[in-house]
Amino acid sequence: MELLVYVLLLTQAVLGNTKLDSCDEECTCISGILKTEKSCTSVEEAFRNFNITPDYVQVAPKDFLEADFGTATVNLGNFIPPLRLVDPKTVSYHKGKKHGYYTLLDIDFDGESNVKVIDLLMNIRDVEKVVPTSGDVIVLFTPPLPALGSGVHRHGKLLYEQKGPIDANQLDLLKLSRYPVIPNLTKFTKTYHLGNPVAGNLYTTELRRCDSSDKCLDKDDSVKQCERLCKILSNCNNDQIDQMQCDAVDK
Ligand SMILES: *[C@@H]1O[C@H](CO)[C@@H](O)[C@H](O)[C@H]1NC(C)=O
Repeated sequence: MELLVYVLLLTQAVLGNTKLDSCDEECTCISGILKTEKSCTSVEEAFRNFNITPDYVQVAPKDFLEADFGTATVNLGNFIPPLRLVDPKTVSYHKGKKHGYYTLLDIDFDGESNVKVIDLLMNIRDVEKVVPTSGDVIVLFTPPLPALGSGVHRHGKLLYEQKGPIDANQLDLLKLSRYPVIPNLTKFTKTYHLGNPVAGNLYTTELRRCDSSDKCLDKDDSVKQCERLCKILSNCNNDQIDQMQCDAVDK
């Protein structure tokens, strides 16, 4: 936990600050994998706890959708610093049907226009390993960086089983690629006969200005911390980070 807090503080220090001059030294390295302990809530509970069900998704998915970024794993509402959201790797659903068609919808429930689409893939055939170019790309992935100072954002990943293939060239979907906002998710899923999501996952993220609690008042200190963290993380293997046995955690 301490490591996570440390990484968060650091990210805040790294991501810029106009008020506090002392934060203008930037550290742009990311190393090590940010991992959180497996959540003990169910997917359904997590969707309810984060007020996504029933507000946006009427019926929460039952199954866990594995989703990995290059240096972070999505885990039922865990916090992922914005810089770790730039490189999506894979999404996996092991219970998928061999000959099914699936839709993957990645959304920011707290985007500027409410439900902002981060990416939308349709007609996915192999849900064991979904990459950002799987199936028909309706909305191409863009790194889901929240606007500065816009509070905590809830990002959800929803996998729907289609009734059959969907024409990816229809006008409404082309429009969506130009303006990736879905004002009413229920209406959207009805239009494309997607039903309720079969699997899902979510995480939170936030980009805010440093304040005095971020301990970045001392420039030398924040740069040193940054260098130290990068060094420590690159010397840690993932298991060690998991078990909180890195030096970074103790000091
Ligand atoms: C969203 O769409 C559904 C189905 O078309 C409709 O019943 C519901 O009232 C809509 N919700 C809002 C907030 O407009």
